[in-house]
Formats: sequence, structure tokens, C-alpha cells
Amino acid sequence: MSVPAHVRVFADADALANGAADELTAIAAAAIGARGACHVALSGGSTPKRLFQVLAGRGPAALPWDRVHLWWGDERTVAPDHPDSNYGMTKAALLDPLTSVIAPAHVHRLRGEDDPVTAAADYARALVAELGEPPVFDLVLLGLGPDGHTASLFPGSPGVSVEDRWVVANPVDSPVAHGKTVRLTLTVPAIGAARHIRFLVAGADKAAMLAQVLTAPRDRFPAGRIVGVDVAWLVDAAAYREVTP
Ligand code: 6PG
Repeated sequence: MSVPAHVRVFADADALANGAADELTAIAAAAIGARGACHVALSGGSTPKRLFQVLAGRGPAALPWDRVHLWWGDERTVAPDHPDSNYGMTKAALLDPLTSVIAPAHVHRLRGEDDPVTAAADYARALVAELGEPPVFDLVLLGLGPDGHTASLFPGSPGVSVEDRWVVANPVDSPVAHGKTVRLTLTVPAIGAARHIRFLVAGADKAAMLAQVLTAPRDRFPAGRIVGVDVAWLVDAAAYREVTP
């Protein structure tokens, strides 16, 4: 079975995390070499947590962390120390272990504790101030939900079709998001402007959705709407097993 060029299949979640760490390191080196800095938008959830642990385990010298700016593709409307906070997960897995090399001024978190509309507008202003318009990330990391969501762009939520803003407070009503809530998220255009976009997908529970997203019409699922100059899917064999040639 031939694997499409934009899909990279790894044996398991650990190999996927290490492969993603290698790609992030290469993208960071190229960005820093070309522009003196690397701006990465991180995703939340369990899949990237393994990547962050791998990066932390490789130590402070594994890449020029002092030139890396960390942003978030989405955030829950909770305080940074809440167990559901994407920032909180990243702080424990990556920021704290590498505190000696990641400058606080380079950590740009979405303020989930603020009024969501204000937090989204503030983040969009910070993005444009740092990256211009459109804000061009060097790398956006994304996950895939079992319902086809990515970032906090959930099926049927208004944020999925926003084309005129970079960041939105997105009302979500989904069992995957544990009911009705508001999520802060980059929009499709903000994600799509990135130089590199990498979906990280692991586990048999994602196999059915991954097979659909890779073959369905683009507008069928939010994840399918993401287009850009360099979009790749880093997946493990368990997640890839239902993809047919
Ligand atoms: C979030 C994420 C979300 C995540 C997917 C996959 O805030 O939850 O940004 O889009 O990437 O839900 O999550 P897992 O990696 O935990 O399966």
C-alpha cells in the first residue's frame, strides 16, 4: 500500500513523538538560520504531550531554544493552572524542564482566564505585532479529534468558517469538548498562513476519522479545511490502519 507523500507513518506513539521532535528541530534550525527566530504554535491534548516530553528529554542544547517563541493554537477557557489548560500541560512537560533556556518573554499563552472575546482580540493583536499580517508561524502543530476537529475548530461551531479574523472565542457544544463551552482558537486562515503545518495523530481510536479526513471532501471536517504550503500528517500505525489506498 503506497503511503501518500504528505503522510508519515511511524511504528508507534513513541516513534511518532521522536519523529515529530526531529521535524520540529529541523524546522526551527531553518527558521532561525533564515530569520533569527522560530515561532511555533503548539497544540493541546495528549498526543503532543509525548512530543514535549521527548523534547525536554533531549535537553536544553538539542535546539536553539533561546530563539524559539512558543504560541498556542488553542486554549480552553480556564486558568493556566487548571488541569484542562493546554498551557498548563505544556508548562509541566516542556517549559519547566527547559526553564533555563526558554525565555518567559518568548512564551505567548492564550489567557484562558480572561473574558474569551477580550482574550482572543488581545492574542490577535500580539500575533500581528510580532508576526505581521497575516501572522506567519514557522510551524503549527495540530491534533485530530475523533469528530474531525482540530485546534478548537469543532464541527458545527461558528469558528470553523471565520475568514476575517486570526483568533476567535469559539462557542462549542460537543461531547468531545465535554458539552457546552467556549474555546479560544486560531482560525483556518491563521493556521493556513504557516510555513509548515504538522498534524500529529496517534492511536487506534483515531483510525476511523483519519481515514475519513484523508479522503473526504475538504469541507467535510474542520481538520480537512486546513490547507497551506507545507501540510503533513505524522501518524502512528495504529491510527493509519483504516486508511485504504
Ligand atoms: C485541544 C487540542 C485538540 C487536540 C485534539 C486531539 O485543546 O484539545 O488542541 O484539538 O489536538 O483533541 O487531542 P489528543 O491528542 O489528546 O487526541
